Amino acid sequence: MTHLKKQNGPIGIFDSGVGGLSVWREVRRQFPEEDLIYLGDQAHVPYGERSREQVLAYSRGIIRYLLHKQTKLVIIACNTASAVALAELRNTYPSLPFVGMEPAVKPAAQETSTGVVGVLATPATFQGDLYASTVEKFAKGVKVLQDTCPGLVGEIEAGRIDSRQTRQILERALLPMLAEGVDEIVMGCTHYPFVIPLIREIAGEGIQVIDPAPAVARQAGRLLTEYDLFKQSGKEAKTRFYTSGDPAHLTRLLKLLLSLNDQAAGLKWVEGELQE
Ligand code: DGL
Repeated sequence: MTHLKKQNGPIGIFDSGVGGLSVWREVRRQFPEEDLIYLGDQAHVPYGERSREQVLAYSRGIIRYLLHKQTKLVIIACNTASAVALAELRNTYPSLPFVGMEPAVKPAAQETSTGVVGVLATPATFQGDLYASTVEKFAKGVKVLQDTCPGLVGEIEAGRIDSRQTRQILERALLPMLAEGVDEIVMGCTHYPFVIPLIREIAGEGIQVIDPAPAVARQAGRLLTEYDLFKQSGKEAKTRFYTSGDPAHLTRLLKLLLSLNDQAAGLKWVEGELQE
């Protein structure tokens, strides 16, 4: 592939479902000229309850599909897939730049005045080495409270971002944290920024909610510079949204979560490979 052709390839962004759209939104804002491919593996959501082997196999299959689409840089817009697969994917594809996600414990620990921070993420993220080393490195002397918010990813995937059930899940997670003095709440799962309005309602004034998406998009920008991959053609930027689930459902969620009128396209898993 010539370098120019490579520069004009898309940035690939993937997640188990619609969570990574919270990252897509920020990437689109920071890089309005770039072509983007978004892929939600909704046939397998939630990843947080699956085994390491499964999440690794799905992530590998997704990367193969994104490479087939000439993707020049991959953003793993999923904390769970990053925790499980990022290191292995970097080993397998040394010349493909990857941006992964880890819970933003560092800024939370730097900014807390009470010395107590809360992290909301999936069980797989909390169990990964990436999370353990982040807490170990950056949260010395800070109390870190954790919650997996069982059921929350499913509610968001169903588009119920302010239902009674969603509120109950969040109250069960947040009220005990607030009672312990939490003043920073980290969105350690990319689905959760879609319920930030509800989180603010429950947590009230004076609590910072940290969404890592802007920092993740900035990191993608640094890699585009480093690898000389910014788009060179003057063609209008586009995004293709793909799902391994029901495209009509993703199309509805694009409207609901991002006010977009784009139509999602469907992919099928066939023997470990994604096909159109
Ligand atoms: N959005 C994902 C994350 O950031 C995964 C949620 C899930 O599929 O369990 O962890």
